[in-house]
Amino acid sequence: MKSVIVALSVLFFASQSLALDLLQNAPGRQQTSLNGQWNAIVDPFDVGDKRKFQNFDGTPPADKLQEFNFDSAMKLSVPGDWNTQDDKLFWYEGSVWYEKSFEHQAKPGKEYMLYFDAVNYLASVYLNGTLLGKHEGGFTPFQFKATDALKNGKNVLVVKVNNRREPDFIPTMSTDWWNYGGITRPVRLIELSPTYIQDYSFTYKKGGTIAVSVTVTGESPAKQKVDIALPQLGISKHLTTDASGKASLTFKAKPELWTPESPTLYSASLTLGDQTLTDKIGFRTIEVDGDKMLLNGKPVFLRGIAIHEEKPFSDGRAWSEEEARVLLGWAKELGSNYVRFAHYPHNENMLRVADELGLMVWAEIPVYWDIQFYNPEVLAKAKQQFGEMLFRDKNRAAVILWSIANETPNTEVRTSFLTELANTVRTTDPTRLVTAAINTQTTTDSGRIIDEAFAGVVDVIGINSYCGWYYDKPETCAQYKWQSAYNKPIIISEFGAGALQGWEGDENTFFSEAYQLRVFKQNLIMLDNMPHLAGVSPWLLKDFRAARRPLAGVQDYWNRKGLLSDQGIKKQVWYLMQDWYAKKEREHQR
Ligand code: GCU
Repeated sequence: MKSVIVALSVLFFASQSLALDLLQNAPGRQQTSLNGQWNAIVDPFDVGDKRKFQNFDGTPPADKLQEFNFDSAMKLSVPGDWNTQDDKLFWYEGSVWYEKSFEHQAKPGKEYMLYFDAVNYLASVYLNGTLLGKHEGGFTPFQFKATDALKNGKNVLVVKVNNRREPDFIPTMSTDWWNYGGITRPVRLIELSPTYIQDYSFTYKKGGTIAVSVTVTGESPAKQKVDIALPQLGISKHLTTDASGKASLTFKAKPELWTPESPTLYSASLTLGDQTLTDKIGFRTIEVDGDKMLLNGKPVFLRGIAIHEEKPFSDGRAWSEEEARVLLGWAKELGSNYVRFAHYPHNENMLRVADELGLMVWAEIPVYWDIQFYNPEVLAKAKQQFGEMLFRDKNRAAVILWSIANETPNTEVRTSFLTELANTVRTTDPTRLVTAAINTQTTTDSGRIIDEAFAGVVDVIGINSYCGWYYDKPETCAQYKWQSAYNKPIIISEFGAGALQGWEGDENTFFSEAYQLRVFKQNLIMLDNMPHLAGVSPWLLKDFRAARRPLAGVQDYWNRKGLLSDQGIKKQVWYLMQDWYAKKEREHQR
């Protein structure tokens, strides 16, 4: 049994090793939303960098032509990708300058933080002409202190966004998803007291122990009294911070444990002076025992579905709670108790709704296909992206698996890159499992062997298998003999086939629903006979935009492997998968 139950405060302080200047639970903070219509100037040649236009403080630019003028510029909604807001921007990759002016009256003694839930990919943030900072990475939050740059009255916020692809970026030049650009998630102006609760974590230990850790930051972090309450458990505790503003406590408790069948969340509050932060926290343990995954000490089978973060009834980046409820509601309807958020950190609503609905989560950073594994700066970026994802989601009981890669080449330089990353993840968060989606197996006459080195590094092996679609006849899949060099749980993190919804076709015609059904039927037989199988997540919930999928009249730049169409319409394969999960659920209840 892999002991994932080390000193729990390790989770908290180790996460400090990826020290991040972020705020825990940004949605739960006192704030002003800066969402809405922003002025936008598309700047493919990055002219804006060279020539000051409209000065970033809102005063008109010196140049008489005023070619770069925000007031008369197009409008873009924030949050939102630009690609689906204007047909001219559908394919656009490059720079867009966003501008928003807003009124503000500073309250005496208050601190102000500009918090971005996510911007794809590069962001430069200017407030009233002052560059507050830059961020790289399209799917994780970042923030900048705004107090000094803010003015009473009218303020002008300018964000330069660039979503171009580069070899040393994560992800890099090629992905099988749409490179949506823009300020894709909410923008918040968060109000803080001079000394405030910056971070906290709740973790649970088998046998009934809860550990709480808190970081207080600001003017005087030391010797601060923080009150913790879990009223439904009748728990109220008091912590006092040390010189660096940190405090932690472990205490006995008997919470009802979080499970997909009963996703119990407890109200938690943290009070420092007149500031109270509240959150919803679930308590559970996750571990491996040989080839079994144990949730709260009991074997669990992951009935899942892979999901891209796209709107439920169209294309475009999803970001809202409402959209998360539709997407995850479908996963529940399918009979899922687990979801794979592919291939990047999804928005916080997805994580909080998964917590609430009872869906275990595979969360992933976009180390996808062939990034620069030899480049130490790229390793640092991967650690940063993981650190930002962990910081935001560490209090979500739903998150059980941290995935650090998808379909990466089986080379030594890659394996050492990922091994180091896996170690960072483990030391930073020893309470969860490390995984990755691997597509390299040894082919035998009768099937496949999982024996590549990196599979030996992860706690749970994710396998992407496209038997019956990219290789082999569907009927071969049912005969497949899988072997593994490792006594570890295996999740088939992807399998599937494309189909245009409504095109019945016949069993021999690619992209017909009949062929998709045929592939699934044979793969489900394969899965029923697969050793070490601890879970499945077919590829995937819904057709999604992909620039690598041009087939006219069939794909039209949609990857058609969804169980649902691009408009959320169920394909026949949906019902086959639903029945198989009902059967699996019955099997595991016995
Ligand atoms: C890969 C990959 C996915 C991709 C899928 C497909 O396995 O991980 O991102 O979309 O296969 O080919 O449809």
